[in-house]
Amino acid sequence: MTAASPNNPVDLADLLAFYASVGVDEALEDAPVNRFAEAAPKPAERMPTTTPRESGAPEPPAAPPRFDARAVPDAPAPRPPTSAVPDEAQAALARQLATAAVSLDELRQHMAAFEGCNLKATAKNLVFADGNPQAAVMLVGEAPGRDEDIEGLPFVGRSGRLLDRMLAAIGLDRNSAYIANVIPWRPPGNRTPTPHETEICRPFIERQIELVNPKVLINLGGPSAKTLLNTSEGILRLRGNWRVHTTASGIAIPAMPTLHPAYLLRTPAHKKLAWRDFLEVKAKLRALG
Ligand code: URA
Repeated sequence: MTAASPNNPVDLADLLAFYASVGVDEALEDAPVNRFAEAAPKPAERMPTTTPRESGAPEPPAAPPRFDARAVPDAPAPRPPTSAVPDEAQAALARQLATAAVSLDELRQHMAAFEGCNLKATAKNLVFADGNPQAAVMLVGEAPGRDEDIEGLPFVGRSGRLLDRMLAAIGLDRNSAYIANVIPWRPPGNRTPTPHETEICRPFIERQIELVNPKVLINLGGPSAKTLLNTSEGILRLRGNWRVHTTASGIAIPAMPTLHPAYLLRTPAHKKLAWRDFLEVKAKLRALG
């Protein structure tokens, strides 16, 4: 068997196919960095397995040079991350920027200019919102996925298509509903956002809800419900029961936690539960006029 070569397009295609199959679908930097090598102790610090000079053994041959893309002429220098690990200062800045926004347009601009969330460094687009900001209903999901990142719009992939059908079932569509996410940048590989990332993004979605001021909020899935309803209860216990989302200025908005469309795609037997929740929303909207 011959060793894989970084210069052979067939080997590279195999390598990329392998990465895709294990969920590695993002390149964070232009050049690969071997973090294991960085973490390994320097040669002088390693426990010697033999002591060649003392044992009289010949010097081992010099190791062949390693392939290092950073050494390739004209290769661009690795880009440093625009933000390090998120911290309280970034959350404070997010709160300040969110509060200062007096319109959705301004909020979007502030978010687009914000560099305090590391997720922005790997996302292609800010996924701000879709739908009608005058709508009576606002839905909030967790975070954009691959399709949403590419299009810059929430819920446009498979789960978005299911969400559209759920909305249609109660007579709504994207002209009569407004859709956003707790996190507006796609986490790499669709990983779960960290609590830090959620805390940094929270002021933005809270301000977005406040500026839209819907009659009813629908929390799609546990992360949205937990973040915006200040609870640690699981979504299967929360769903179907009215809660209240209270905005920073004290406006109380009825909120219906329900199951996330992506979960329903994996667990279709639970679609009937989401259907009941959406009927509750329909009844509430009718009651509120
Ligand atoms: N899942 C979400 O929570 N939000 C999206 O926009 C897409 C999928």
